[in-house]
Amino acid sequence: MKILVTGAKGQLGYDVIKELNKRKIECLGVDKEDFDITDKTATMSFIELYRPSSVIHCAAYNFVDRAEDEPELCFRVNTSGTINVAEACKSCNAKMLHISTDYVFDGKKEGLYEPDDTVNPLSVYGISKAKSEQGVQDILEKYFIIRTSWLFGTAGQNFVKKMLMLSKNNKMLNVVYDQVGSPTYTADLAPLLVDIALSEKYGIYHATNEGFCSWADFAEAIFNFANIRCDVRRISGTEYQAKAVRPKNCRLSKSKLLKAGFDNLPPWEEALKRFLQSEGLCVK
Ligand SMILES: NC(=O)c1ccc[n+]([C@@H]2O[C@H](COP(=O)([O-])OP(=O)(O)OC[C@H]3O[C@@H](n4cnc5c(N)ncnc54)[C@H](OP(=O)(O)O)[C@@H]3O)[C@@H](O)[C@H]2O)c1
Repeated sequence: MKILVTGAKGQLGYDVIKELNKRKIECLGVDKEDFDITDKTATMSFIELYRPSSVIHCAAYNFVDRAEDEPELCFRVNTSGTINVAEACKSCNAKMLHISTDYVFDGKKEGLYEPDDTVNPLSVYGISKAKSEQGVQDILEKYFIIRTSWLFGTAGQNFVKKMLMLSKNNKMLNVVYDQVGSPTYTADLAPLLVDIALSEKYGIYHATNEGFCSWADFAEAIFNFANIRCDVRRISGTEYQAKAVRPKNCRLSKSKLLKAGFDNLPPWEEALKRFLQSEGLCVK
């Protein structure tokens, strides 16, 4: 068994490689300097040479707001790049585990989103990921599509780090209260992804830490756990005026994952405390 991980320097890829090394599974982490996934020839020749049994595809263009101004780049990386990786997996008969997002949904559903609910993305980023999911399904039979949300981890940038940084120079921050989802710690998600990749339980799944909150609740928890004095002014998404429209309801159902025999991840608050501790921040 040999696993190739794309986006290995990003927040999720970094923890996936860490988990594979911990389990002593032969693996190789690659990033843009090894090959650019938008270059089909380079992608095919690199993967065909390594001949992995599975590819965990974490590489992506993740700038949700910037994507509205540079849609071509976003589609090139997230859609065409993912299709290139899927074609290479097909050529090597490798399984592919592709990471997707809650932003493929429009957030208008009342209850939790199930993996086979109809996608209807609201943003360029969401459309690029929905198209990538379709591409993977069209090309491969041995695929897993794992939709996750609101990632935070040691490597790379995320909401937690942004709140901590902004709180240094601000006593009060405006944060959105009417978008609800699940913050997810990459160190918790990575072992689950490895378990899924080692299985043959192909299909689309949702995987996040347990529990739901708004961005404003999330920010308040960060400041509370880290003993930081910073007030959160709760504003609507409309008032915040981000470039990209985000779904209000990002609550993903994990029942399919449980039915397939995989475990729930811990609650997001507990995961957040562990992350803050790992960053050396005092935690209540
Ligand atoms: N972050 C979230 O909150 C979130 C939420 C839901 C789903 N997801 C999905 O989860 C996955 C992992 O996200 P993440 O937060 O770990 O991402 P990340 O930290 O932004 O890492 C992405 C990695 O992909 C690399 N990459 C970008 N373009 C590439 C290209 N053309 N060729 C090769 N590598 C390229 C990046 O390299 P450079 O840094 O050099 O560009 C980076 O190392 C993605 O599929 C994302 O869509 C993320």
